[in-house]
Amino acid sequence: MPTIAISGASGKLGGATLSALLAHNLIPASSIIALTSSPPNSSTFAALAATAPGLQVRHASFEDLPSFEQALHGADRFFLVSTPHIQLDFDRLVQDDEKKEKKWVEVPDGQGRERHHRTAIDAAVKAGVKHIFYSSLAFAYSPPARSGKRTSKAAVMRAHLRTEAYLARLRDEGTLENVTVIREGLYAESWPLYLGYFAPDGDGDDGRREVEVPLAGDGRASWTAIRDLGVANAVVLAAAESGEFGNRMFYLSTRARTAKSMAEMAGLVGAARGRGISVRVVGRREHERYYVEERGLDAAAVRWWASTYEALEEGECEVDDGMLEELLGRVGVKPEGVEEVVRRMVKG
Ligand SMILES: NC(=O)c1ccc[n+]([C@@H]2O[C@H](COP(=O)([O-])OP(=O)(O)OC[C@H]3O[C@@H](n4cnc5c(N)ncnc54)[C@H](OP(=O)(O)O)[C@@H]3O)[C@@H](O)[C@H]2O)c1
Repeated sequence: MPTIAISGASGKLGGATLSALLAHNLIPASSIIALTSSPPNSSTFAALAATAPGLQVRHASFEDLPSFEQALHGADRFFLVSTPHIQLDFDRLVQDDEKKEKKWVEVPDGQGRERHHRTAIDAAVKAGVKHIFYSSLAFAYSPPARSGKRTSKAAVMRAHLRTEAYLARLRDEGTLENVTVIREGLYAESWPLYLGYFAPDGDGDDGRREVEVPLAGDGRASWTAIRDLGVANAVVLAAAESGEFGNRMFYLSTRARTAKSMAEMAGLVGAARGRGISVRVVGRREHERYYVEERGLDAAAVRWWASTYEALEEGECEVDDGMLEELLGRVGVKPEGVEEVVRRMVKG
């Protein structure tokens, strides 16, 4: 029985994966190591320990390689759930001395969120972990007919692509035996973020009957419930033969035929709320101006997120990979549709 370590086990994705491992009896609790950056005397630590008798809980922080190395001792497989510290990815505003003005500069490779991931990966190598599973993101999709490497227009994907490249390098040079890259579908639950930072409980529309959401673009995306991502991750992690998913990259996502544009998502939310909610495509410059100047959001964060809409319009998130359905089928679970998720969030 392999021992599996999971980072971000107290979070949404790691937590859904941990729950699914236990709920579907895929692996005994005593063979799971739940990692948390919280200290042993914290409530997070205690809550994780209370999840199941025998579950091992260990402290590991992306900011502290030795803590990660120590926590991974004895683990055969490591599920690296990507870091939530998105601010590491934001372009920096620096002074251009020649032009005597400030300009935005992209974070160099190794200094964005990939820095946290490299720490965890280097620690895993030192601790002798044989197989790393990395939770990447479902952008940059290429249909098999147009196979070949595709880059992404989305800044949110940059750290993932850099991390994937780092893992490939370690595997190619023989430092790591087995790498599995899981491009996790866009959370169905994350529609408020895509829909102009909308508040599902009603704050986003000030109680108005008709709401228009300005966005930089309106492409379609395949939306996937977090619970289903957790179940599919769990099936992959617990596979009897490590080789079944070894040295592969695949998407976990609902199929392209059910993909929805932001305008369609607005329609679903509007129907659930009994309001008219629509999308107005305004282009990137106006999008940034509106959310920074009129909504008061942080300029670096808005700038980082705005490129997502260009990626959606390019079809990067119209994913058509049957892997999610296949994996869920192994434990008798059917994917939850985005319509159900929206209703659950808006009514709940
Ligand atoms: N597929 C999608 O649509 C989608 C959407 C959102 C995010 N994501 C990505 O998936 C990742 C997981 O998302 P999530 O929704 O599960 O996020 P989340 O609920 O915010 O959980 C993030 C986890 O990171 C851990 N963490 C925070 N700081 C850490 C540190 N310094 N060292 C080690 N662990 C740390 C936290 O655990 P402790 O506090 O216990 O350490 C927490 O469990 C995100 O980080 C993001 O990269 C994907």
